[in-house]
Amino acid sequence: TDRYCVFGHPVGHSRSPQIHAAFAEQSGEAITYTAIEAPLDDFAGAWRAFVAAGGCGANVTVPFKEDAFRLCDTLSARARRAGAVNTLILGDNGQTYGDTTDGVGLVRDLAQHGVNLAGARILVLGAGGAVRGVLEPLLTAQPASLLVANRTAEKAVSLAADFSDLGAIRGGGFEAVEGPFEVVINGTSASLAGDLPPLPDDLFAATATAYDMMYGAEPTVFLRWALERGARPIDGLGMLVEQAAEAFFQWRHKRPDTAPVLASLRASL
Ligand code: ATR
Repeated sequence: TDRYCVFGHPVGHSRSPQIHAAFAEQSGEAITYTAIEAPLDDFAGAWRAFVAAGGCGANVTVPFKEDAFRLCDTLSARARRAGAVNTLILGDNGQTYGDTTDGVGLVRDLAQHGVNLAGARILVLGAGGAVRGVLEPLLTAQPASLLVANRTAEKAVSLAADFSDLGAIRGGGFEAVEGPFEVVINGTSASLAGDLPPLPDDLFAATATAYDMMYGAEPTVFLRWALERGARPIDGLGMLVEQAAEAFFQWRHKRPDTAPVLASLRASL
């Protein structure tokens, strides 16, 4: 039985074991998948110990995605661009390969919901690691424009500059935000604190989607705010399942059927 895990700190809240157990059952893959709390000061040691005990791959969550990025022998192009790794794969040669599946997870979930990115005016809120990880696949979908807006404007400006070769991307502060947008994605951690970035009331186009990369049993403040302004709210639970499916595919070369897994995860929130 091949062993996989998710590393985090804390990690007890992680839904990944539940998701990967469902994928394994569905595909008949004999794997185990556990949650491991790595020490904050020695992520590399935790990965090496896991490999020594027969581990073949892992997911990586907060706060280790940059540590994972640094320990890899080889990186996918998208992980290099994101500066972060959420999927580790042990190669036959014993080398560690790193990938990031968060961005493709977001874009697949938007597609599952029938949201059209091509030609859309997209606003992304936040300029931290979570946002950096999703910009490449968003730009690859060829939106009309992509504005990154952040509390600290300079971070959004410099982040946009890092991706400007991929398409029409700009960065700025919240005060520079001028709608309308067809797609607004909240990648700030403001939701965690129950906060809402200061945004104009006329943010949304007539038909618009509001996506929060966070999720919970109840809609986030941002999604409630968006619903009141006529946008269609979608939370990040589907992104979680889709990024997991892409990681599973990297490890097992089988594509899980995500819909039933998402439905049962939703029911268990
Ligand atoms: P993550 O890995 O989740 O992206 P991060 O790199 O610490 O975490 O980034 C957090 C993001 O949420 C940042 O864009 C941060 O804005 P600043 O760059 O100005 O710090 C944003 N953020 C956090 N709390 C916020 C709040 N209460 N209102 C608005 N933005 C907030």
